[in-house]
Amino acid sequence: MSDQPRRGTRIAHIGIAVRALDELIPFYRDVLGLPETPLDDADGARIAGLAAGDSLVELLQPEEPQSPIGKFLDKRGPGIHHVCFNVDDLDATLARCRTAGLTLIDEQPRIGAEGKRIAFLHPKSTGGVLIELSEY
Ligand code: CO
Repeated sequence: MSDQPRRGTRIAHIGIAVRALDELIPFYRDVLGLPETPLDDADGARIAGLAAGDSLVELLQPEEPQSPIGKFLDKRGPGIHHVCFNVDDLDATLARCRTAGLTLIDEQPRIGAEGKRIAFLHPKSTGGVLIELSEY
């Protein structure tokens, strides 16, 4: 149980698979007016962050075809790849997921971009949506 103040589950970012960041950044940045935020690469993808209020749109461009985003693009084409929720207590959330019978991709939290503890849930148990959980 964490001693951190609880902030409640909210959408942290929506990850969108793209073939080329430069093709989509102008839409989100210039047409929709979302400020660009620098983000580190992660999981074999270059990431462009665009702030939509407290949430981010993350455009994910594969650096290699065998990366998770590269495989996704091959199979499904460009589009929404995952939705990430911030949670107060990742261990407690994963425990509830297990109790609810959900399939976890990460049985244990791992360290994701920005040094946060993250874990993914399998889309087969979440209505077809890959869900990332990230601790505040
Ligand atoms: Co993500």
